[in-house]
Amino acid sequence: MRHLISPLDFTVEELDDLFKVAKDIENNPKKYAKVCDGMKLATLFYEPSTRTRLSFEAAMMNLGGNVLGFSEATSSSAAKGESVSDTIRVISSYADIAAIRHPKEGAALVASSKSEIPVINAGDGGHQHPTQTLTDLLTIKNLKGKLGGFTIGLCGDLKFGRTVHSLINALLRYDDVKFVFISPKELCVPDYIIKELDNANAEYKEVTKLEESIGDLDLLYMTRVQRERFFNEEDYIRLKDSFVLTKDKMQMAKDDMLVLHPLPRVNEISVNVDDDPRAVYFKQAKYGVYVRMALILKLLEVEV
Ligand code: CP
Repeated sequence: MRHLISPLDFTVEELDDLFKVAKDIENNPKKYAKVCDGMKLATLFYEPSTRTRLSFEAAMMNLGGNVLGFSEATSSSAAKGESVSDTIRVISSYADIAAIRHPKEGAALVASSKSEIPVINAGDGGHQHPTQTLTDLLTIKNLKGKLGGFTIGLCGDLKFGRTVHSLINALLRYDDVKFVFISPKELCVPDYIIKELDNANAEYKEVTKLEESIGDLDLLYMTRVQRERFFNEEDYIRLKDSFVLTKDKMQMAKDDMLVLHPLPRVNEISVNVDDDPRAVYFKQAKYGVYVRMALILKLLEVEV
């Protein structure tokens, strides 16, 4: 039985296969409409979510399966003190596969160690968000035509941003990817990720101004400064508007630079950038359904 806890749990070849299935799903949705008939996905969300939970649920429904679960810890027995380990042991007899989001780093890994069904990490604290990374990679592959041979800027909260950590880990396995990390000093990439970049001999630089680098980028991955990860409201208020991508800044970018964002967006991308054809974050959210459908099929070992 396989789980998806880290973006590195699948080989590059397995990811290529997953993206091929996601493309086929997009082109031939009817072929997949009943392949998970009688199967159930449990969504165990101890933290708020719109895209991840609902795209997982849409994915399972598109495959002809059913969904059950909870969308906040307070409506589950976690509110009475039940552990994640006990919860997943019980859910193992209610569902065929589970997606779990939890504010604590490592919660999905703990769940997978006690589970009798495949477990998908749908985000664990400030650590990893592998299915967002699958979405990001599919978006880049579909819209740039390749994974590698580009310069990507990651901008915003690079310290607590689990989507950023997972994406860096994943991109380190592809050739000729150059990284530009754009953040205030307080929200820079954690040391353990810097060590991974150094071990991989990756080319990267850390800067504090978006304007200085935007012209060099093929991809710009914007992220939100996350209020929920701060211990101190004053620090959040001071840092929350560190970077705002505006139409003016987009004029400094290459004609084919793509703007990605895992969403939700707060203030870091002006709404009038949304009409720019290079802004692909809503398309990215749509690709998330196809790749989660492909992932469910892989983990449930459903042959189509
Ligand atoms: N990208 C993402 O994880 O969004 P949600 O928090 O809405 O699931």
